[in-house]
Amino acid sequence: MEREVWNSKIGFLLAATGSAMGLGNVWRFPYITGANGGAAFVLIYFIIVFSIGVPVMLAEFAVGRSSKLNAVGAFKKLKGGKWPVVGWIGIIAGFIILSYYSVIAGWTIKYFISSFTGLISPNVNTTTYFNQFTSNGLQNIFFQAIFILITIYVVYLGVEKGIETWSKILMPILILILLLLVIRGVSLPGAPDGIRFYLNPNFSEVTGRTILAALGQAFFSLSLGMGAMITYGSYIPKEISLPKSAFIVTFLDMLLALLAGFVIFPTAFTFGIEPGAGTGLIFITLPSIFALMPFGQIWSALFFLLLFIAALTSAIGLLEVSVAYVKDERNWSRKKAALALGTTAFIIGVPSALSNGTISLNLFGMQFLDAMDYLSSNILLPLGGIFVTLFVGWVIKDTALKEINLEGKFKFEKSWIWICRTIAPISIFLIFLAGIGLL
Ligand code: TRP
Repeated sequence: MEREVWNSKIGFLLAATGSAMGLGNVWRFPYITGANGGAAFVLIYFIIVFSIGVPVMLAEFAVGRSSKLNAVGAFKKLKGGKWPVVGWIGIIAGFIILSYYSVIAGWTIKYFISSFTGLISPNVNTTTYFNQFTSNGLQNIFFQAIFILITIYVVYLGVEKGIETWSKILMPILILILLLLVIRGVSLPGAPDGIRFYLNPNFSEVTGRTILAALGQAFFSLSLGMGAMITYGSYIPKEISLPKSAFIVTFLDMLLALLAGFVIFPTAFTFGIEPGAGTGLIFITLPSIFALMPFGQIWSALFFLLLFIAALTSAIGLLEVSVAYVKDERNWSRKKAALALGTTAFIIGVPSALSNGTISLNLFGMQFLDAMDYLSSNILLPLGGIFVTLFVGWVIKDTALKEINLEGKFKFEKSWIWICRTIAPISIFLIFLAGIGLL
């Protein structure tokens, strides 16, 4: 069978950007920034995104397009030996992420509906509201299940009809709505304080943990280290420039996170909400601002719809990694793969859905959902990043160099290959050691 390819250049860029832009930008970035002290974290994050993120993404595109295979199959075909294990780490990381991702995404559905049913009112204490909802296990599982079902449906429609078409329709709407919210956010009375927290760095509180958190956020937000960009890269036609694509996707992803911060922090400071409030940050801050706005219910509904859309295009990417694997390597049909793997992710996600107040479920001193997030983002994804760059830099160097420069116009090939060979793997490793307190 002919391999599916993206239908158009813009379709691919939107799909890859759609995979990158998600809860990672709008939910995770603000709350991790808040929990790590604000501006200094933001600056470290941007440095990591451009010095490590872009080269790693390019490495994954190169592996994907030169093999035209899924994350495991690509390593098998290009070299074999133990290398396919890297793809396996990715598949496992993807499952873990999808499992709790769909819980948070389920919250966006609940908040979309609640926008019209009493959430948006000056009399509502949004913290209490959030705590009450997240401690209701049945509701959490219900919305998580709905979200997974929608994801399965889109993946099952296939690369071109499903992922590409949906991304094309949804991504532009998403950016527009966020821009409108930024304008509202920066005109709030607490905006100067919020923006100071967000953009005025204080390096005295930066520790190894802060830097590891920034690295984990970069991998999570850019969908790196788990074979997703290998998989998407395998569908890229030859005439598209890989370096340009890596840059555009990264830039748009960063822009969306930055914009989300301009909405969340002014709001938090206006309403006296702790920016380090944790996973609930956006669900607690935003309803307060909406309650004060004319047509607040509609603003709120639009925002959570936006977040739902962003989450959906990312969840599609998360599921696609393992679907592509069983399709290519085990000859499963797309339908069977999407259904079986989506259901598995749902089941693994149930403890995460219950761990936010329904039952007390802790791991490594964290709530279960946070522990899963830490394990995947701060450990598995960076590990994947180390191996992908080493693979490209040392094992398939010539193939990779050719693949990223088919037009012969890319000028930074030498620097890129050196980043892959040494700088990226070594710095990821050092940040990792520092982050877990071994350095
Ligand atoms: N980048 C996504 C976000 O920011 C989450 C994510 C991580 C992802 N890894 C992925 C999405 C792989 C698709 C594929 O929300």
